[in-house]
Amino acid sequence: MKTKIKNPKGKLGILIAGINGAVATTFIAGTLAIRKGLSQPIGSLTQMATIRIGKRIENQFPRIKDFVPLAGLDSIVFGGWDIRNESCFESALYHEVLSKDHVMQVRDELENLRPMPGVFNQKYVVRLKGKFVKKGENKYDLMQQLRQDIREFKSKNKLDRMVMVWCGSTEIFLKSDHQAYGTIKSFEKAMKENDDCISPSMLYAYAALSENIPYINGAPNLTIDVPAISQLALNDKLPIAGKDFKTGQTMMKTVLAPMLKARMLGLSGWFSSNILGNRDGEVLDDPGSFRTKEESKLSVIDSILQPDLYPELYDDYYHKVSIHYYPPKGDNKESWDNINIFGWMGYPMELKMNFLCRDSILAAPVVLDLVLFIDLAQRANMSGIQEWLSFYFKSPMHSPNTVPENDLFIQLMKLKNTLRRMMGEKIISHVEEEI
Ligand SMILES: NC(=O)c1ccc[n+]([C@@H]2O[C@H](COP(=O)([O-])OP(=O)(O)OC[C@H]3O[C@@H](n4cnc5c(N)ncnc54)[C@H](O)[C@@H]3O)[C@@H](O)[C@H]2O)c1
Repeated sequence: MKTKIKNPKGKLGILIAGINGAVATTFIAGTLAIRKGLSQPIGSLTQMATIRIGKRIENQFPRIKDFVPLAGLDSIVFGGWDIRNESCFESALYHEVLSKDHVMQVRDELENLRPMPGVFNQKYVVRLKGKFVKKGENKYDLMQQLRQDIREFKSKNKLDRMVMVWCGSTEIFLKSDHQAYGTIKSFEKAMKENDDCISPSMLYAYAALSENIPYINGAPNLTIDVPAISQLALNDKLPIAGKDFKTGQTMMKTVLAPMLKARMLGLSGWFSSNILGNRDGEVLDDPGSFRTKEESKLSVIDSILQPDLYPELYDDYYHKVSIHYYPPKGDNKESWDNINIFGWMGYPMELKMNFLCRDSILAAPVVLDLVLFIDLAQRANMSGIQEWLSFYFKSPMHSPNTVPENDLFIQLMKLKNTLRRMMGEKIISHVEEEI
């Protein structure tokens, strides 16, 4: 049965919290360049990948964008908030992710893109100072101001639909078991009482969902991973997805760990180190923000290796993750992994990986795919946590009754099968009879 999906007519607003950041400006500048035919959407499944339909011998491999009704890049209008009062042109030049030539190609559009003042509190991102921030009576009032911004953005740009994506900084670690997170009522009370358990990112998410806008969490922040917000999304029939974009080192982990398990090779240790010099690196230099990132980065291997099922292989491995702020590296992060494994009769081996990646170059297509897919989910009436988008996250949100799926290729199969099911096509299980 084909799912009823509304057509993507009209304009799609993409609201970005942290619009002046490295990821956000690389995503925006790239999308504008692609729209002008000046660049290729490399790294984006929605724009480049194909999907097999039917049996292998039928030879049907449409592009995903021709198979499901996605919003076109021409329909996108960008907007958002930051705590720095500068145009996206100035920010894109500052970050030096893209060359000056590339930034100049879309100069006019980037110059016209300025943030709305953000909701910020240094308590939650210790290394940043908010210079361009809203003032309000309490957190509830600040959340209402964000709602007002959203309504104005919608009417000014004559938008048909909107999605919100958090590309803002990583906040300090917050425990998920606070009683205020339990229900919508207790959450609202905590906002009104300025409770410390409510971080700025939660106010953005609450504002988005209250305005019927799907929300994507690109950072490891707790934000929507609490019952009150999941409930709000379900009540209002809105899709949500998170958390923490899966890009460099963790993407590699979710490819290598399944390989070890597939061949029943043991693991005794996985040491992961990173150096990076962008603003994200500076923020993560604070122990509070690092703890949030560390939890996210550490979580992936266990759910893949399942030590409870294979104690002789994975019971006691040592897993260490560190991130060091090193300004000369800029956005061009370098990571090293030293992986101690063992094979037949317990003989030890070592695997070493050195990834010289570009953080925001890997993240930009992830943002593009997520905003287009969550808009699709919204038009297909899919609400709550979108586990089929786990492919894009380090620490995928999941229902309380299941464990997360972290294996990149199972995640990809899940994503493509969800699209097939949406369009009333047969799910592909790769068994022999299907050819
Ligand atoms: N680049 C990657 O590969 C990658 C991967 C996974 C996750 N992330 C996460 O994505 C986020 C963005 O990364 P980045 O490299 O662009 O960082 P960045 O520091 O360049 O950008 C973050 C932006 O958010 C703004 N900001 C902070 N708090 C805000 C608030 N309360 N309201 C509005 N704006 C706020 C900052 O001023 C800044 O412009 C970070 O949380 C990072 O950990 C990045």
